[in-house]
Amino acid sequence: MSVPIIILKEGTEETKEREARMQNINAIKAITQTVKSTLGPKGMNKMLVDSVGDVTITNDGAEILKLLDIDNVAANMMVNIAKSIDEDIGDGTTTAVIFSASLLENALELIEQGIHPKPITHGYKLAADKALKIIGDIAEKISPDDDKILMDAARTAMNSKDIVGVKDYFAELTVKAVKHISGDDGNTFSKVGNVKIVKTPGKSLKETELINGVYIQKEKVNSTMPDVIKNAKIAVIRRKLDIVKTEFDAQIKISNPADIQKFLDQEDKILVDYLKIFKDLGVTVIVNNKDISDKFGAYLAREGIAAVKNLSDSDMKAVTKAIDANTVDDLHSLSEEDLGFAENVKFEKIAKDEYILFTGCKNPKSVSILLKGGLDKILSSAEITLHDVLSVVAKVMDTKEVVAGGGAIYIELAKRLREFANNISGKEQLAVNAFAIALEEIPKTLIKNAGLDEIENMTELRAAHKTESDKWKGIDTITNEIGDNFEKGIIEPAALVNHVIKAGSELANLILRVDRIISAKGSRPPGL
Ligand SMILES: Nc1ncnc2c1ncn2[C@@H]1O[C@H](COP(=O)(O)OP(=O)(O)O)[C@@H](O)[C@H]1O
Ligand SMILES: [Mg+2]
Repeated sequence: MSVPIIILKEGTEETKEREARMQNINAIKAITQTVKSTLGPKGMNKMLVDSVGDVTITNDGAEILKLLDIDNVAANMMVNIAKSIDEDIGDGTTTAVIFSASLLENALELIEQGIHPKPITHGYKLAADKALKIIGDIAEKISPDDDKILMDAARTAMNSKDIVGVKDYFAELTVKAVKHISGDDGNTFSKVGNVKIVKTPGKSLKETELINGVYIQKEKVNSTMPDVIKNAKIAVIRRKLDIVKTEFDAQIKISNPADIQKFLDQEDKILVDYLKIFKDLGVTVIVNNKDISDKFGAYLAREGIAAVKNLSDSDMKAVTKAIDANTVDDLHSLSEEDLGFAENVKFEKIAKDEYILFTGCKNPKSVSILLKGGLDKILSSAEITLHDVLSVVAKVMDTKEVVAGGGAIYIELAKRLREFANNISGKEQLAVNAFAIALEEIPKTLIKNAGLDEIENMTELRAAHKTESDKWKGIDTITNEIGDNFEKGIIEPAALVNHVIKAGSELANLILRVDRIISAKGSRPPGL
């Protein structure tokens, strides 16, 4: 009689095939349910309470996913894939989640009908490749100078955010800001972080301003330093401005009282030397990522030199870039060429915080948005919105391709994939059709969230896509009309839809190929 070979440690649990797949897909479905109703302009809000009782109310899928504490490997994989769209595009998280989950759900149905996962993943791959090709063919090619298109993309991204009253104003502001930072390198998206957003209380978001300069939240080192410095020559340094202390506790024995003064004079001499370096170069502002002692601060103040200290890396980068300075570690090597320039450097108190503002900088590509509004929570969500919208506008400028939203692109893709499926034989055909159904989940959800009749509107939408010229027929859930959404200005970057499709098929491929879950002793089985 053969003895069973035990290769797993005692207590290890093994979940097989059907059950493993069900567990994973059910966990993914559960997460999807929490964000699904937030999709689109009529999406519902969610109230999230964290472990210390802080409440966040949001209808932003990406925000919700960030705050959820998810304890399932497969669901976490989906969340990570969805988050990657936020990093890559700045928008589209909820869409990616809904599409991925729908792909998996449809696959599960096929598996339950006895189809092996292999042809399903293969069919999905064929469908995804075809869909990407279709998008490449039908997307509208635009010019990055086309302000109307950029504004439309900004407005569409804002449609699902809680800032209805300032949508047009913010669209204009973000397009201006992105145009400021963009160059000819087609890489504006990576520079969106250069638009610094500073939040400040005010009567309304309408008071928000675009400022050609950089804000850094820092107070001056010494209160008697000047508040305004015109035509500033700025030294950006990475060096402690203090007397150099010995690293370890050294004792200095001074027996003669006269030596005490000598010792202090010696210390002082170091500071005076530093001061001389700055004065000789005509420096009027010092920016330092290290400390500046009170004593040295007083010396600088006496000379009318302003200074800020202990700047973060990102602030250092922002200033250096704006004023076109070189950071210097060794003061003795500081030279005229290292210095930066700004027409105006100003210390300013905004709300409770102190800021230093550099305007009229050498590099005109540095801009800040002074975001004004009422409640803290409104400001925070407006900040997230602005960041997303800046990203979307930058993406459109970089990729120069847009498609119509409000479900239009998904209906058109589904239609063309069904035609494509007719030419495919075998089980893959079923998978391509399942892929098309998953794409339609986006318009379906938009319709459902708007409280409209799903069957009626989906039938009408499908029927509306007759010829090539109908490709942008979609639903506007603000007016509840079906029409040409490109003409209506409901548009989004083609790159967003590309990413949704890639992310969804990638996840489906990963999850469907899992046929065993092996959990170490004590670990919680997935899906529970
Ligand atoms: N006026 C509109 N009518 C219908 N759908 C719209 C409208 N404006 C935007 N949308 C759609 O809303 C969806 C985005 O919703 P959103 O809640 O922002 O989710 P995501 O996290 O995926 O960005 C997109 O499919 C977009 O086309
Ligand atoms: Mg969005």
